[in-house]
Amino acid sequence: MSKLRIAVQKSGRLNDDSMKILKDIGISIDNGKDQLKASARNFPLEVFYLRNGDIPQYLKDGVVDLAIIGENVLIEKGQDIEVAEKLGFSTCRVCIAVPKTTEYESIKDLEGKRIATSYPNTVQMFLDENGVNANLHIINGSVEIAPNIGLADAICDIVSSGSTLFKNNLKEVDSILKSEAVLAVSPLLSEEKRVILNKIQFRIQSVLKGRQ
Ligand code: PRP
Ligand code: MG
Repeated sequence: MSKLRIAVQKSGRLNDDSMKILKDIGISIDNGKDQLKASARNFPLEVFYLRNGDIPQYLKDGVVDLAIIGENVLIEKGQDIEVAEKLGFSTCRVCIAVPKTTEYESIKDLEGKRIATSYPNTVQMFLDENGVNANLHIINGSVEIAPNIGLADAICDIVSSGSTLFKNNLKEVDSILKSEAVLAVSPLLSEEKRVILNKIQFRIQSVLKGRQ
């Protein structure tokens, strides 16, 4: 029987929750995170540990069949990808934040300003909806440092507890979208593999019910 290939975040907060749900649905994975690929012992499943931002393209290309990924990453890079299941964990929001001392009434205040972000498409959609022109600086991590080093006037990044904003003297001023982890499906998934997906989904649904 062919195996279903699932992508999970290689490291970071989503990784722990992803491995936990796989465990909770009774799938035991053979190795730790040192290898980039692992097989399940008791289920036709292979796990690939990948960078978050790369996962939408792997799904589109059919290199992986499934992924546990933040909805926010799909909105940024894979709007046409099917979501089989919302998973209810790793909740966060994508927010605009500015230095605590900056006066801010609305997004219009960022007209002509510089915004540092790892989510350029998401921010651009929000700016367009509001008829605002701003300059985006794309950075892949530690976005919250940008205003402090003079790189940007504002940032757009994910906020969970809010502690990273707080530590960097920033305040959240607009929330663009809410996100949680989802089970995403490759558009190239075969019928044969969909049967395995259905089994996984059935198990996930009962685990999520039990968590409520
Ligand atoms: C993520 C995200 C925010 C922070 C939000 O960064 O980019 O910076 O977590 O969480 P909080 O509101 O609970 O502080 P992460 O620590 O994963 O590092 P990175 O941005 O460098 O990838
Ligand atoms: Mg960060």
